[in-house]
Amino acid sequence: MNYRLATLADVPALEELIPLSARKLQTEHYTAAQIEGAVGTVFGVDRQLIHDGTFFIAETEGRVVGCGGWSKRKTLFGSDRARSTPDPLRDPATEPAMIRAFFVHPEFARRGIGRRILELSEAGATAAGFNKIEIIATLPGILLYRAFHYVNVERFYITLPNGAAMPVERMSKNPPPGQDKTARAPKLVGN
Ligand SMILES: CC(C)(COP(=O)(O)OP(=O)(O)OC[C@H]1O[C@@H](n2cnc3c(N)ncnc32)[C@H](O)[C@@H]1OP(=O)(O)O)[C@@H](O)C(=O)NCCC(=O)NCCS
Repeated sequence: MNYRLATLADVPALEELIPLSARKLQTEHYTAAQIEGAVGTVFGVDRQLIHDGTFFIAETEGRVVGCGGWSKRKTLFGSDRARSTPDPLRDPATEPAMIRAFFVHPEFARRGIGRRILELSEAGATAAGFNKIEIIATLPGILLYRAFHYVNVERFYITLPNGAAMPVERMSKNPPPGQDKTARAPKLVGN
């Protein structure tokens, strides 16, 4: 498996991978209406992350079989389709980096691709000066992030374009304010 930064040339492959991953790997947690309502908007490519050099792909034999990354920008989740204005930067001193858009091909699930891309993403966010990371996690995504010591902050519903409501969980990895960060922060894994 080869891991590298995504380029704009990968967008067509990502636009195939993301719906395929959602439609196969989310069926235990979401209804068809929820998945279809999210595909293209909540589940989609955000080219800003590719421009920023913060979005990774996993490929094997020329096939893109996994993706995911991190963001230093304000947007919490979703494709760039709904956004018409620039996405402002976050301040690493006061704001968390966001983990974004993890999708693995169903044939390659549970082989460590999500784990590897999350390690790369955490290392990137840490190197950029962020000491707190958050995720708006899908219900299947929670299983991966819990394994990396992210904790629940809140559950809420995203209202989708087709009217369905999708439950998601905001998760966070950081020491509580005022605590000794070196003692409490889970170690961020590097390359
Ligand atoms: C969530 C997702 C990205 C995980 O990717 P993956 O490559 O299959 O995950 P990994 O193989 O790296 O798993 C790493 C760890 O996460 C946990 N985990 C991942 N998937 C799990 C599952 N289905 N059930 C239980 N634990 C799971 C396990 O602890 C696993 O370690 P282990 O295999 O050694 O037990 C993948 O299932 C997916 O694409 N889901 C559909 C899209 C989606 O909802 N993405 C999340 C967006 S927030």
